[in-house]
Amino acid sequence: MIQRRLGSSGPAVSALGLGCMGMSALYGSADDTESIATIQAALDAGVTLLDTGDYYGAGHNELLIREALRGRDREQAVLSVKFGVLRSPGGEILGLDGRPAAVKNALAYTLTRLGTDHVDVYRLGRLDPAVPIEETVGAISELVEAGYVGQVGLSEAGPETIRRAHAVHPVADLQIEYSLVSRGIEAEILPTCRQLGIGITAYGVLSRGLISGHWSPARPLAAGDFRGGMPRFSGDNLDRNLALVERLRAVADETGATVAQLAIAWVLSRGEDIVPLVGARRRDRLREALAALAVELTSDDVAAIELAVPQQAVAGERYDPRQMAILDSERRGA
Ligand SMILES: NC(=O)c1ccc[n+]([C@@H]2O[C@H](COP(=O)([O-])OP(=O)(O)OC[C@H]3O[C@@H](n4cnc5c(N)ncnc54)[C@H](OP(=O)(O)O)[C@@H]3O)[C@@H](O)[C@H]2O)c1
Repeated sequence: MIQRRLGSSGPAVSALGLGCMGMSALYGSADDTESIATIQAALDAGVTLLDTGDYYGAGHNELLIREALRGRDREQAVLSVKFGVLRSPGGEILGLDGRPAAVKNALAYTLTRLGTDHVDVYRLGRLDPAVPIEETVGAISELVEAGYVGQVGLSEAGPETIRRAHAVHPVADLQIEYSLVSRGIEAEILPTCRQLGIGITAYGVLSRGLISGHWSPARPLAAGDFRGGMPRFSGDNLDRNLALVERLRAVADETGATVAQLAIAWVLSRGEDIVPLVGARRRDRLREALAALAVELTSDDVAAIELAVPQQAVAGERYDPRQMAILDSERRGA
């Protein structure tokens, strides 16, 4: 498995990470047995980076990972965990909590659910506007000192927050949406991270399945699948976006890769400091995603991909207005 490093201070990890969110939340129901088999297949294939959040299924996702790791060497996995997004039993976002006491309390529960004495990267899922980032990162750095956490990470943070956080404790990586259709980080966030030696863990590289080549307007949305309310999956936007996917498919056919592999390979080609997470929930999807590591894009291929899916061509924002409003990375000037 090809390795990349999470920033200049972070650990070496597999060049593709597995994002486990969809196994517990947001994409409708999933099959636990298949989810665990998928995590184990990823580990067997050499994937080391597993990403989760304590609010993915209210702890369910961490329990799945614990089960998948049972009987294995804990050190085989680099566990990246998010906290601080408060959700009701029904899954609605209730608020954000980056208070130092909440940080430590959340980690205590996470360690128990994961069945481990440390996590490798710990990060606030969304900036809590009521708590200065220095306080939240300060609390994580105390957990680092105590040996419960390996590295400080960030999620969906903008340049100012990134700098302020990094001044308190070196930040290993910023987790943020980055794909052919979500290139906002290229203007300021990516250069800021590069200047500071902070890596990028890119999520949504398939735009939640939209640009995977497997999405169609006929696909029934399961109850609880939040994509039903996402702008890019709705109405005319969906038609326009799937037309882009067909243009990508034409390039994929020429290179012998699938659409999903091309989309993942494009993110991989954006820099050694970028580690794409893939949200595979099944072993067949995982196999397809991992094969993207063998897709070598020439500069002509990259040009053809970017011609097929030009920068501003996607229709719709990446989240609904309520969720866009809590993204520090999308604040004006961010
Ligand atoms: N920090 C943050 O704010 C944040 C936000 C969101 C996610 N994340 C992390 O990033 C991870 C990935 O994000 P994501 O799931 O939204 O993005 P994604 O990888 O863009 O999308 C995953 C979706 O694409 C579909 N898909 C189709 N072909 C696939 C293939 N070959 N490989 C993988 N998936 C394929 C999946 O399966 P089906 O077609 O089977 O449904 C799933 O519905 C999450 O699991 C989570 O750990 C972080």
